Amino acid sequence: MDFLQALLFLCLSAIPLSADNASSKARSCSDVRQFYSGKGFTLNGVPQTEISGEHLRICPQGYTCCTSAMEETLSNLSRREFEGLVREAGRSLQASLNAQYRSFDTYFTDLLNSSERSLQESFLAKLSSLYSKNAPVFQDLYTDLRRYYRGSAVNLEETLNDFWARLLERLFKASALPQYTLTDDYLECVAKQTETLRPFGDVPRDLKSKVTRALVAARSFVQGLTVSGEVVRKVSQVPLSPECTRAMMKLVYCPHCRGLASVKPCANYCRNVMKGCLANQADLDTEWQNLIDTMLQVASSFSSDPSVDVVIYSIPLRILGAILYMQENTEVFTSKVFQACGTPRVAGTQSSGSEERKKRVNPAGTTMEYKPSPTAGAQLEMQISDVSSKLREMQQYWVQLPAALCSSKVAAGAASDDKCWNGMTKARYLLEVMGDGLASQINNPEVDIDITKPDMTIRQQIMQLKIMTNRLRNALNGNDVDFQDASDDVSGSGSGMCTGESCAHNGPRVIVPKADSTRYYNHPENKKVKGTGTQTHPSILLLLLSLATLLRRR
Ligand SMILES: *[C@@H]1O[C@H](CO)[C@@H](O)[C@H](O)[C@H]1NC(C)=O
Ligand SMILES: *[C@@H]1O[C@H](CO)[C@@H](O)[C@H](O)[C@H]1NC(C)=O
Ligand SMILES: *[C@@H]1O[C@H](CO)[C@@H](O)[C@H](O)[C@H]1NC(C)=O
Repeated sequence: MDFLQALLFLCLSAIPLSADNASSKARSCSDVRQFYSGKGFTLNGVPQTEISGEHLRICPQGYTCCTSAMEETLSNLSRREFEGLVREAGRSLQASLNAQYRSFDTYFTDLLNSSERSLQESFLAKLSSLYSKNAPVFQDLYTDLRRYYRGSAVNLEETLNDFWARLLERLFKASALPQYTLTDDYLECVAKQTETLRPFGDVPRDLKSKVTRALVAARSFVQGLTVSGEVVRKVSQVPLSPECTRAMMKLVYCPHCRGLASVKPCANYCRNVMKGCLANQADLDTEWQNLIDTMLQVASSFSSDPSVDVVIYSIPLRILGAILYMQENTEVFTSKVFQACGTPRVAGTQSSGSEERKKRVNPAGTTMEYKPSPTAGAQLEMQISDVSSKLREMQQYWVQLPAALCSSKVAAGAASDDKCWNGMTKARYLLEVMGDGLASQINNPEVDIDITKPDMTIRQQIMQLKIMTNRLRNALNGNDVDFQDASDDVSGSGSGMCTGESCAHNGPRVIVPKADSTRYYNHPENKKVKGTGTQTHPSILLLLLSLATLLRRR
């Protein structure tokens, strides 16, 4: 409101005001008093008319309505407001990342769940007694796949090997040799032959490579979303240095003290202040962009053949195919086992296994090829395109932040270039604009920064980005890195991405110091929240616009 009034006054009045005219009659401080009490501060000690300003330590001296106490109060206010804006911007970015996380997580969990349901359904229809006797074998498989996806220390290869071994043991017992007594030792011998005898044909090997690739990618992708959100949160909380507090005060509130409340800062002046005060943050840029790039690559890998949904939906059919193969070749397999392990003892009575044998599935009646439905494919495409466009919007965040914070504050257009606040008075700002990042601030005229002392919190977060990018690159090659080189681990103790699951050993070292990880990691278990981030969270552009509005209220 006071801004609009002042602007109106400026436009209508024919005589431009000059605050530098020391000989003019002492002016009233009513505007400053109104502004100051509007900010919630007491008017005790605030002068009624301008006083001489030798006491000012941040603002240029000269006639002023600000006392020393006001200067300190306002510079504290400018620090709080600046930190608040940076945090707010960070929160919007986090919210967007969280929304993408929930959306993808819901999608992928649904995928695993419907794959498991379809396994139950197709087995109940075709091999119901086999399924009901062996339900835990199948359930455990899916439980382990889910746990792996969530970041637990599950060895995927072992999980799949165990699954086939258990399945073989049960099939062998149930259908192949009802007349024999099979000891544990004997079954162990049988299990050892699976590598060479390959009772399930090519299915285990093929499924292993496809499922591993799909799960490694999905898991590292959601970890990437989590880690980047965590980095944003920590970096957005880095406090403003005393030098920056001074610079911010001079930029934002000294015009008030100088009687130039309506004059906006010069564009280049504002840029220098922001680039100086967000120099460490801008150093995140390279690694942040690398991470987003790699996440985009992983996202697009989800749809490359065979796409992740086809792989997960195909699991039941592949297992069914493997069982059929095994049943087809029972005689050959059994005789080979007898050669390798000896002939087991014949039991006294007949077991129920022969009944199972009669109930063999007719292979011709089973389609072994999973045909993805058009809707499932479209759903994956939408998921990928949505998350990708959101990620692209974020890619420039750290270097765009200074300009975004300035865009609302600065004098509009080139015409007012010499009618802006340049830190001293209303005049053109003549100094050049600094580059991005800490190293470029060596000659920053507005902020005194020691470029040899980077912010340690931010350095650590840059390292986290590097580590995560490395994981994602490995995922693109189908590898999971469960062990991180200890020398990479800047923050020392790290807790994994073990969302609720215990991962006491060998946990993936996505290092997030334990103390503050709790709040953030709560959400993966919260499946009730549907991932509709698309609608509820503003894009980064919107965020910057809303920041602009916030700033304009000054
Ligand atoms: C200062 O103010 C006086 C009286 O209002 C006026 O005569 C004089 O021209 C002004 N000087 C400048 C430099 O604006
Ligand atoms: C300004 O902030 C500093 C540091 O937080 C504090 O010590 C001081 O009391 C504050 N001054 C005012 C006037 O609020
Ligand atoms: C998926 O299945 C798991 C385990 O059966 C269950 O806890 C979870 O709620 C299901 N999630 C969804 C989205 O259906």
